[in-house]
Amino acid sequence: SANGEVVLTRHSGRDSGILTLSLNRPKARNALSRSLVADLRHALDEIRADSDTRVVVLRSTVPGVFCAGADLKERATMSPSDVGRFLHNLKSALSELESLPQPTIAALDGAALGGGFELSLCCDLRIAGPRALLGLPETSLAIIPGAGGTLRLTKLIGPSQTKALVYTARRFGPYPAMSMGIVNDVVDAAECMDEQSTLDHALGYERALEWAREILPNGPVAVRMAKRAINHASTADPASGLDIEQLCYAHVIPTEDRLEGLRAFKEKRKPVYKGC
Ligand code: CAA
Repeated sequence: SANGEVVLTRHSGRDSGILTLSLNRPKARNALSRSLVADLRHALDEIRADSDTRVVVLRSTVPGVFCAGADLKERATMSPSDVGRFLHNLKSALSELESLPQPTIAALDGAALGGGFELSLCCDLRIAGPRALLGLPETSLAIIPGAGGTLRLTKLIGPSQTKALVYTARRFGPYPAMSMGIVNDVVDAAECMDEQSTLDHALGYERALEWAREILPNGPVAVRMAKRAINHASTADPASGLDIEQLCYAHVIPTEDRLEGLRAFKEKRKPVYKGC
């Protein structure tokens, strides 16, 4: 990417089809500056158009920090209208992430605060490492979550739990996150021992890759269509939600992969899907 603050890595061999998107702005703990958000938008455009990418894993190159949220130093230099423009760009980037056709998995190692937490809420799955530290600290900065946090967290865990977290600005670890339904899986410290861990791996990244590998063999068009239908489920009224599911289903019917699935079942073997 132009500023090198977002790095894309395409995996090969058995992991071919997995793409890792790494946030890479170590000096500011991946704080969301204008330049990082611009890099993110470019990267998302590239991924959206890449039919070889079946699953995306988001991680940080900074051990112990996923993303520190808005860049508070850059923010201090912004006029109110600059802040408005920045938030508009950030919100577009997050909507682009949420609506990426491929499934996305965030590996949360260390702090994912404010905008960093909101970024993770735009992923389909969240995996927390032992050092995960999540929260919406905005009210402690006399602002409110402004990149979709009030909406997306409410959809995920309901209004009362969201209010508790936003009013208190509390930071919380992986197990409370799991019990509230914010993360799908937690990796504890002992399980990270054999990861190359603290140096060049975000803790929890290996587990996120395992999740990616479990998605990888399934019908790529089917997984994309399932994502599209489920993303609409929480916004649409029930009748149009069912219509959208039907439209998404209609996309999988003419695929070769659907016939391959039926053949493989009959021949008692694993299907090999091509994504068409
Ligand atoms: N913006 C800009 N710089 C940041 C930053 C941020 N959000 N977070 C950390 N940094 C910088 C620090 O200033 C420091 O820089 P210097 O070396 O020049 O002093 C460097 O990154 C390292 O920071 P720490 O020494 O604090 O690193 P740590 O590993 O001990 O802690 C942390 C990491 C837990 C993320 C901690 O830095 C922290 O709490 N940061 C602030 C989190 C926060 O409140 N974010 C804003 C949320 S509000 C928001 O996002 C609203 C929105 O508009 C989207």
